[in-house]
Amino acid sequence: MRMLVIGGSGLVGTNIVEIGRKNDIDVHATYHTNQTPQTEFQLDKTDTEQTRDVISEVDPDVVIDTAAFHAVDDCENEQDKAWIHNATGTRNVAVAADSVDAHLVYLSTDYVFAGEPTETPYSESDRIAPVNYYGETKYAAEQAAKIADDVTVLRPSVIYGNASENFATWALSELEAGNEIEIVNDQTSTPTYAPDLAQACVEIVTKKLTGLYHAAGPTSVSRYEFTRTLATECGYDTDLVRPISTEEFGQEAPRPTDSSLDSTRLYDKLAHKFKTPDEAAKLL
Ligand SMILES: NC(=O)c1ccc[n+]([C@@H]2O[C@H](COP(=O)([O-])OP(=O)(O)OC[C@H]3O[C@@H](n4cnc5c(N)ncnc54)[C@H](OP(=O)(O)O)[C@@H]3O)[C@@H](O)[C@H]2O)c1
Repeated sequence: MRMLVIGGSGLVGTNIVEIGRKNDIDVHATYHTNQTPQTEFQLDKTDTEQTRDVISEVDPDVVIDTAAFHAVDDCENEQDKAWIHNATGTRNVAVAADSVDAHLVYLSTDYVFAGEPTETPYSESDRIAPVNYYGETKYAAEQAAKIADDVTVLRPSVIYGNASENFATWALSELEAGNEIEIVNDQTSTPTYAPDLAQACVEIVTKKLTGLYHAAGPTSVSRYEFTRTLATECGYDTDLVRPISTEEFGQEAPRPTDSSLDSTRLYDKLAHKFKTPDEAAKLL
């Protein structure tokens, strides 16, 4: 099997490349601005022609599109850029993947949901109602991905791991430096360990699973509780993690209060088991 990972220099992409190669898949990967040793093609998916050219040159059986503009507050302030990267860019990938008859796997987000605590955990058939522009563009991207005949849309939630900077690496580096960090205690999700998501992607393409799946971790926790777990498991002072409300914290874009996902539909189809935060934190 030949696979092209778009966003191969990112957190999930790096893990997919690594796990794909361990599984004897012929993996090729793109970067956008930060070339890594395992990425060979520069690609901006907002560029229709370049996207078509790279995909037709590689001629993959599978395209996994992890690329996004996902700085949630910046998406609120730079809406044209957010739309072009997330919606138009994904459409470019879907058209090009379809033209070489590739199976497309697209990574969406839990932020397509309103995040009403009475509605959670969300299943795949639940009502879409993003509360911020990032979520709107990702839902538009889910629709665009369906241009490809064979498509799998995965919705993860707060992704963490070692491969590149993310919320967990930031929090742990602050704690290591002995700095207090204020973490919201009223935003809840199902944090997803990046290597688990990458392993799931590889299993999905091997088994040719198509359709929409929630693909998040098994534990629903507030961002504050999640950070305390990371601190405990990594041996840092948990008192340095201070709770703060979303209102006090004052983020630019509104956030879902509880966007926890129910991923049992996917779990039932996979041999791989997603880790809880305390299991995964031991590996950070
Ligand atoms: N991180 C989270 O907490 C989270 C939660 C839910 C869903 N998601 C979704 O999961 C996916 C993967 O997230 P991640 O954390 O792995 O992201 P990431 O670490 O920021 O990686 C994003 C990748 O996309 C590439 N990229 C950015 N803009 C691009 C463009 N215009 N054309 C082509 N490539 C571009 C980046 O390349 P360079 O680095 O080389 O510029 C990088 O390789 C994203 O679709 C995101 O929306 C993320």
